[in-house]
Amino acid sequence: DGTTSTLSDSSSNSDEDADAVIFSKGDLTINGSGTLNIDAKKNNGIKANDSLHVYNVDEEEVEKEAVTIDWDAEAAEKAGYEHFMLKEMYEQPKTVADTLSPRIKGNDIVIEELGMSDAELLSIKKIHIVACGSAYHAGVTGKYVLEGLARIPVEVDLASEFRYRNPILEDGAMVVVISQSGETADTLAALRESKKRGFKVLGIVNVVGSSIARESDNVMYTWAGPEIAVATTKAYSAQLIALYLLAMKFARVKHTVTETEFSDMLGDLARLPDQIELLLNNKNRIQRFANRYIAAKDVFFIGRGIDYAISMEGSLKLKEISYIHSEAYAAGELKHGTISLIEEGTLVASVSTQPALYKKTISNMVEVKSRGAFVLAVTCEGNREIEKASDYVIYIPQTNPFFTNSLAIIPLQLFSYYVAVGKGCDVDKPRNLAKSVTVE
Ligand code: M6R
Repeated sequence: DGTTSTLSDSSSNSDEDADAVIFSKGDLTINGSGTLNIDAKKNNGIKANDSLHVYNVDEEEVEKEAVTIDWDAEAAEKAGYEHFMLKEMYEQPKTVADTLSPRIKGNDIVIEELGMSDAELLSIKKIHIVACGSAYHAGVTGKYVLEGLARIPVEVDLASEFRYRNPILEDGAMVVVISQSGETADTLAALRESKKRGFKVLGIVNVVGSSIARESDNVMYTWAGPEIAVATTKAYSAQLIALYLLAMKFARVKHTVTETEFSDMLGDLARLPDQIELLLNNKNRIQRFANRYIAAKDVFFIGRGIDYAISMEGSLKLKEISYIHSEAYAAGELKHGTISLIEEGTLVASVSTQPALYKKTISNMVEVKSRGAFVLAVTCEGNREIEKASDYVIYIPQTNPFFTNSLAIIPLQLFSYYVAVGKGCDVDKPRNLAKSVTVE
C-alpha cells in the first residue's frame, strides 16, 4: 500500500494483505536514504516508495522477490471479545479444523510438506523434539503420542538446554523444532546446531516466512493465523494437531496400528473441533469456579502420562497471566516431596483422562484431599468414580486417549483466563513477557 515497515515477526503487522520482502540473516539493504543493517534491526533507512536493493555481507546484490503475506485485518482485531486471548481461545475449533483438513485425504493422512517417501519415514529411528515454553509442552504430548502410536523413541528438549548440552544425534535421527512465532532465539539456535551436524530439521511453525520456517529443511505449518495474546492458546492447539498427524502418519507407514484403529482415529480427529466448541460453551461455569480462586497463592496441577503434559501447559497458562504461583507434577511424584506443600484449601487440579491410569491418579487425588486440598478434576465423560475423590469435576467428551489434551486444555485455558481477568491483570500483555523471544 505504499508504506514500508520492518518487522521481526510478520504477525505484528496490523495492515491488510501486504507485499513483503523476507530478509535473511546478514542481509544489508541500501536505499535512497541510507543503510539498514537487518541483524541490528535498526529501522533507520527506509521510507515509503523507496526502491529497495538488498546486498549480502560481501556487498553483492541479492535478488529478493516480494511475497504477499495473506493478512486478514479482522484477524488482528478483537472482534467484540474483551481480550485477544479470549478471541483466540474461541478460534480453536477453526484452527484445529484448518490444521487437520488439508492433510486428511479420504481415509489417509498426506503430509506433502514432510518431503519424505514412506521408505524415508521408515528409516527414521529416533525423533528429537526441541522447543520452548508451550511449544515444548506440545512436544511432550507429542512424545507420548509418537511413542505410543508409532513406537518410535522420542526425546524432547527445551531448546535452551539442547543447544548447549552437546546432544547425541545418531544416524537415522530426525529433529523436529516447534515454534509459533518462528523467531524464538533458542529454538533457532537448536535448529542451526542440528543442521550443522548434518541432520534434517522439520519445523512445525505458525508464522509463514519466519526465520525457523525459512531455515528448516521442511515446514509443516500450523494454520492458526496471527496470534496476538502473549499466552498462546490456538497455536498450541494447532501444534498438538500437527503432532497427532505426524504420529499417525508414522504409525500407518510402520503398521503399528490396524486399519480399523486408524480410521477410528481419523473419526476422532474430525470430531475435535465440535467437541472443543462444546467445552468453550461451558465458560460460565468455569468463570464462576475461577472467581473463587482469584486470591489463591499456590495452585498445583497433577497428572500421569499425557495428562502430565497437559498439566504443564495448564500450570504455565495460569502463572503467566494471573501471576499465581503454580507447579505441574507427575502425580506419582507427589510422595517424593511435593505433597508437603499441600495445606488446607490448596487448589490441586488433577487431569485424569487416560483409562489405563485413572485408578492410579485417583489414589493421588485421595492423598492430597485427605491433607486438605480442594481437588478440581478434569476427566472424561462417564468416569463418575472420580467424584468421590474430588470437590469439583469438569467432564470432557470421549475421544481417543491419545487426543485428550486437545480437549482437556480448554477448561484449563478458560480457568486461567478468568482468574487473571478477576484479578484485573493485563491478560494479553502479561508483565515481563514478550510474544516473540528473539533474544536469549
Ligand atoms: O513462538 P514460540 O512458540 O517459539 O514461543 C515459545 C514460548 O516463548 C511460548 O510458547 C511461551 O511460553 C508462551 N508465552 C506461552 O503461552
